[in-house]
Amino acid sequence: MHKLAHFCFVSAAVYAFLGMALGITMAASHDHTLTPVHAHLNLLGWVSMAIFGLFYQAAPHIAGRRIARIHVGFATLSIWLLIPGIALANLGMTEGLAIIGSFATILSMGLFVAITLMARKSNVTEK
Ligand code: HEM
Ligand code: HEM
Repeated sequence: MHKLAHFCFVSAAVYAFLGMALGITMAASHDHTLTPVHAHLNLLGWVSMAIFGLFYQAAPHIAGRRIARIHVGFATLSIWLLIPGIALANLGMTEGLAIIGSFATILSMGLFVAITLMARKSNVTEK
């Protein structure tokens, strides 16, 4: 497996573990205040990171490039900003970190849009 894809899958699995642990805690306590934290940790952490892993495994010519490492690093950073940001917002403390995390998340997705377009172009001579 490509190193970058492996990083994505290990991250995704850790996020899934944490997201499920939070889900079980919410279910057991009947306190659903953090439902959006659980939802986004699972969907941005587990699902999106796993999709990035599949993409980079399918496009190793892009996975080896610096822009791919920048994207995965940025996607990771945005999860680490957005998830605690949503928690703080839902607990009524501050929306600041959620706002910063939201912009980081959409910017990292913008980078991924560019990467998906580049992947086709640079793969054009390959089978
Ligand atoms: C051990 C596994 C899990 C447990 C115990 C669990 C538990 C929960 C609970 C208690 C809620 C709150 C429901 C509510 O507030 O109405 C919830 C919501 C949610 N969960 Fe999980 N969950 C688990 C795994 C997952 C996974 C793997 C995903 C995604 C891949 C996921 C996605 C969601 C989403 C999107 C919501 C929000 C649904 C809505 O807004 O109605 N959950 N979960
Ligand atoms: C910039 C990134 C994102 C931002 C700022 C954002 C923001 C939000 C907000 C404000 C809500 C409403 C929460 C509430 O009712 O309290 C929400 C709900 C939800 N979002 Fe996102 N979202 C983002 C990305 C995503 C992505 C990438 C997915 C799926 C792959 C997703 C799936 C969901 C789902 C399933 C819900 C309903 C779950 C719930 O009730 O908490 N979101 N989102």
